[in-house]
Amino acid sequence: MSEQNGTAMRRDYQKGDAATVALEQKYYDAYAGFYDSLADEDYAEILKQVGRSVQAKAILEVGCGSGALGLRLKERFQAARNVGLDVSHGLLMKHPFLPVLGNGQYLPFPSESFDFVAASAALHHIHNLEQTLREMYRVLKRGGHVLFIEPNADHPYRRLVVDGGFLRKYFLQTSDESIFPQDLVAMMCGIGYSDATFHYVTFRNRHPSLLGRTQSLLSALPRPRSWGRFVHPWFIMVGGK
Ligand SMILES: C[S@@+](CC[C@H](N)C(=O)[O-])C[C@H]1O[C@@H](n2cnc3c(N)ncnc32)[C@H](O)[C@@H]1O
Repeated sequence: MSEQNGTAMRRDYQKGDAATVALEQKYYDAYAGFYDSLADEDYAEILKQVGRSVQAKAILEVGCGSGALGLRLKERFQAARNVGLDVSHGLLMKHPFLPVLGNGQYLPFPSESFDFVAASAALHHIHNLEQTLREMYRVLKRGGHVLFIEPNADHPYRRLVVDGGFLRKYFLQTSDESIFPQDLVAMMCGIGYSDATFHYVTFRNRHPSLLGRTQSLLSALPRPRSWGRFVHPWFIMVGGK
């Protein structure tokens, strides 16, 4: 537990050390190409969270992988310059736009050089979350927007299996440790981001596993609204500067 501007964080968000980057590189270089697993409906839901009036001329995606989200952002912001940064050379080789090999904690770009910064399923892999958010804030222009898609740390699958459960050792091949959305809001507000808001979501996935199908079924059942945090495996966060 750590303190962030007077708000108690439920998790530390500084995992491992520099070795986490090597672990991520090794894993994703070997795994290149897997992560275009969301369905078109999932990307439509993600882009719905970005206001219709939002415009972007220069987009940065941190932890872009092979560029699955980047492609959809290009459809939404057709005239935009689209840069993708990742530690995995193997995944970047598949990136369709401007791939940059680098660590999200140290962005190799001038301040205020992008008007849209995104990260999909990437923040929870990076060693120091706060430093990464600060770097993203630095390179974001005033009036710019951010979009983050992250696994929901409150979901039972994350709590019992991936993050803290006894099965973790069978799953842990990366430095993956999910984020509580409320912690992300508090951290973003502390850094200076404006209007940080999130929305829980269950993705359909392009090729859903049995677990994915069960999660979709459970999230569609009638239930009190407040249970959403335990039912939806993901959340989508938007904010601005
Ligand atoms: C779960 S994958 C998501 C890939 C892609 N954003 C997507 O949605 O398909 C996590 C990505 O984060 C990248 N990553 C891990 N640590 C990173 C770091 N320190 N800086 C930048 N990218 C990193 C990995 O190489 C991988 O591409």
